[in-house]
Amino acid sequence: MAKVFVTRRLPQAGMDMIESAFDVDVWEGDMPPPYETLLERVTGVDGLLCLLTDKIDGQLMDAAGEQLKVISQMAVGVDNVDIAAATERGIPVGNTPGVLTDATADLTWALLTGAARRVVESDKFTRSGEWKTWLPMGLLGADIGGATLGIVGFGRIGQAVARRALGFNMRILYYNQGKSYPELDKELNAKSVDLKTLLAESDYVSLHTPLTDNTYHLISSDELKQMKSSAILINTARGGVVDPTALYHALIDGEIAYAGLDVTEPEPINMDSPLLELDNIIILPHIGSASISARTKMATMSADNLIAGIRGDTLPNCVNPSIYTE
Ligand code: GLV
Repeated sequence: MAKVFVTRRLPQAGMDMIESAFDVDVWEGDMPPPYETLLERVTGVDGLLCLLTDKIDGQLMDAAGEQLKVISQMAVGVDNVDIAAATERGIPVGNTPGVLTDATADLTWALLTGAARRVVESDKFTRSGEWKTWLPMGLLGADIGGATLGIVGFGRIGQAVARRALGFNMRILYYNQGKSYPELDKELNAKSVDLKTLLAESDYVSLHTPLTDNTYHLISSDELKQMKSSAILINTARGGVVDPTALYHALIDGEIAYAGLDVTEPEPINMDSPLLELDNIIILPHIGSASISARTKMATMSADNLIAGIRGDTLPNCVNPSIYTE
């Protein structure tokens, strides 16, 4: 029977699929397995099912051995996996696109509306007993209706965020490395612009790019300075897309008004990060895809990829399909 290592217990629907097909070793810790443990536990496995918290590099693939047929990640983003190293070794890498698009777009809107109307600050205000009366000028926030939303990265999630903006009658600007989508522009009241224009004209800037060498610290001090002083920055993509030191200075110096983060650099955020001392930021613990249905589908989709890879079939969702043609 083929052997697989699963780096954390998954939603049961996915576990059932894997356990009925393979000899399964599951890391039962709540925290990710340390890298050294990963190296030991992958030895001799035919398949690896991993999470975005695991570092999967060439050394680990070699430690597994030549029989390793598939790496299946339960996430859409795969920046923790050395894709070039997998491709060199002819190992397909699977991911879980599509099934977490709506959950992540919903959470983007929770952060956007929560930051605009200072929801977390207001809740703290209530709980701390500061709510003494109705305040004509207290806890004022920003309008959303009719504002301009800039979307950086206009793939599945960026487009789903734009679709939700229709109900708020917003103007959408998007930047997708110069690519435009004329068929969507009319439907979504959207326009492709360069990053500089997007940053200068948007009231809200929401990030939806994968983390790559090109997008690492894409938003740093120069970019933050180009934004409106009233602007709100939302990041539900990857922490590394934003330079956290630059963000801290922009928030404290009033270069931008507010930020809403679901992802940080590093993760989890260091408890001595100065960002945690600011009131004009909401920081969530990377819960973009954390709806019951999204996580269940991610588990079954990653099980499907694992099963296909071990059978020698093409993965239903493969991030390095060139291994099948080259
Ligand atoms: C979550 O961040 C994912 O990439 O699926």
